[in-house]
Amino acid sequence: MTSLRGLKGRHLLTLLDYSPDEVKLILEVSRELKLRHYYGERVVPVHLGKTLMLIFEKPSTRTRVSLEVAAKQLGMNVVYASAHELQLGRGEPIKDTVRVLSRYVDCIAARVFAHESLEEMARYSSVPVINALSNKYHPLQALADALTLWETRGRLSKLKIAFVGDCSNNVATSLAVIGAKLGWEVRLVGPRDLHPGSKLVEMLVEDLRRTGAQIVITENLEEGVKGVDAVYTDVWVSMGFEHEAEKRRRVLEPYRVTMKVMELAGPDAVFMHCLPARRGEEVSDEVIESPRSVVWQQAENRLHTSKAVLALLVP
Ligand code: CP
Ligand code: NVA
Repeated sequence: MTSLRGLKGRHLLTLLDYSPDEVKLILEVSRELKLRHYYGERVVPVHLGKTLMLIFEKPSTRTRVSLEVAAKQLGMNVVYASAHELQLGRGEPIKDTVRVLSRYVDCIAARVFAHESLEEMARYSSVPVINALSNKYHPLQALADALTLWETRGRLSKLKIAFVGDCSNNVATSLAVIGAKLGWEVRLVGPRDLHPGSKLVEMLVEDLRRTGAQIVITENLEEGVKGVDAVYTDVWVSMGFEHEAEKRRRVLEPYRVTMKVMELAGPDAVFMHCLPARRGEEVSDEVIESPRSVVWQQAENRLHTSKAVLALLVP
């Protein structure tokens, strides 16, 4: 059996190194904490007096605020600094910064441009480092997505999810990772130029074998969304990719999620988006505002899944 104690002190950079049972455990604890929150239990002071440090190189609404509120509800203090407010912005090496900060705080969550920055933080930090989004992965988002699917579909396994659009981005990649852990069929549907590299499936081979999950990569929108439990999309131009905006908008134009796409998916499919959304670009206003949209529930679940992650990982 997966031990709760086994997660203490662990970094959370990609979820790749978490077993299916460990992922399920985080989701079970998220559900429990959400239930308690609904009963009015705002404070679960398991980390009283400990401190979470947030370092952000890019803007954030959901990740920053949900982590901050989650930490405070666990009894923690929170210190926030954008990277340019730290000496990091003037060139102090990451390895020096992190060796200092991990003597002050109990956990560091960072949003970075280059995933390698997080890897360096994790190498030098003596406290857990949590990925609050990098160019490659967004594991906290994937956990909230899985909780939302569990709640809306009534099960956590044997789900079929179509991610439509930029399948090379952080959100699509983390959805594929968590899907592989939980036995889903994840269809990545988008233009060939924005398919994930072959490395993604290679890294997940063992999980796919173990859980029976499948990753299907296709350019065919109609076949890709047919019969799925959820259609998921994200912005066409992620933070840090603004220089490719024009080309991305051109190749992604046929992949906008409209009501017609939702009809192709079938009557039961829900619509998902990590937010922020650009209405009229990757999704129509009609879809995101429709009763099939679960985007607010996804955003809400960021609080409960982040709280579970902090509760379990912070030593
Ligand atoms: N979904 C998400 O990570 O949103 P923020 O960029 O607002 O944190
Ligand atoms: N793929 C988007 C996600 C934002 C939460 C980005 O990286 O900008």
